[in-house]
Amino acid sequence: MGINNMSLKDVCKIVKFPDFGDKDGDLIVIENGQVLPFNMERIFFIQNTSIGTVRGKHANRVSEFVLLNINGSSKVRITDGKEEIIVELNKPMEGVYIPRMIWKDMYDFSKDSILLVITNTRYDDNEYIRDYNKYLEEVNGKE
Ligand code: TYD
Repeated sequence: MGINNMSLKDVCKIVKFPDFGDKDGDLIVIENGQVLPFNMERIFFIQNTSIGTVRGKHANRVSEFVLLNINGSSKVRITDGKEEIIVELNKPMEGVYIPRMIWKDMYDFSKDSILLVITNTRYDDNEYIRDYNKYLEEVNGKE
């Protein structure tokens, strides 16, 4: 079991954004105070990845994230050091919420993948944990 005895699948919820699409196209809205579980401060997107690329490979002490593929597909492997889940991102109106202190790796990017990342913080390298063993120590409360 993960955080607070909830399973990772319950903690890392799927977030569904409203789609006001009609015959003229999709219109998907991401707005503070709606389905996002935090106030967004920053977005970035990852595209043009090469075959075999694995990104992420970190946990964050402060940042929470929602990841969604607005084009193509990718996978995210999510772990709290005890449990692991893999979420396939392939719907522009559906993302996965990742709380703080969760390790994530993104991989299997399709050629046309555009992975949008939404977070509640400005970038601060000090809140990143990029060493998995250090992450395990911190998440297990040994520091
Ligand atoms: P990194 O966190 O390793 O990317 P990812 O988790 O998506 O694989 O960041 C790669 C580089 O970009 C690193 O030098 C830090 C820089 N960066 C910023 O300056 N601002 C940002 O918001 C992000 C996400 C990265």
